[in-house]
Amino acid sequence: MKTLYLIGFMGSGKSTVGQLLHHDTGASYLDTDQMVVEKYGEIAAIFQREGELQFRHYETDVLKQVPEKDYIVSTGGGIVERKENMAFLKDRGFVIYLDTSFAEITQRLGNDTSRPLWGKAEPDKKELYQRRRERYLEVADMTIATDGKTPQEITAEILHRL
Ligand code: S3P
Repeated sequence: MKTLYLIGFMGSGKSTVGQLLHHDTGASYLDTDQMVVEKYGEIAAIFQREGELQFRHYETDVLKQVPEKDYIVSTGGGIVERKENMAFLKDRGFVIYLDTSFAEITQRLGNDTSRPLWGKAEPDKKELYQRRRERYLEVADMTIATDGKTPQEITAEILHRL
């Protein structure tokens, strides 16, 4: 099996669905945010001390370490910020976009302060969401509309459509 990558905005359920897929298929599981934390330290601290650009560098570094086959991978919402990552995903993976509306993301994340890029003022967040959505759609091999669905339902839909 080609490695499966879950992509989507912050709060779209990539980690939860990734873990369910891991349980249901028995394939190994990786989370690029977790890989960054293990290798380079806490994400909020990296943003604060070294800046977003350096975080993106670390993110690309760990992405490249993911094996080509038999893994389920949850990615950070900004994985599409680099064209290099988009090319890598298109070339090496089967990419599943969890397409969650901005309204639902806003409801789920609320005032979450653990995500450095969610601390922004409202128009910026919407802009970020819209810009990235184009990119998610561009790299996706499969797009799943997730609004109103449980992680279990989303997982079942992915397995059915694979
Ligand atoms: C980011 C999303 C986060 C994490 C970092 C940056 C982003 O991951 O990688 O805070 O730029 O959207 P999640 O999508 O898992 O929240």
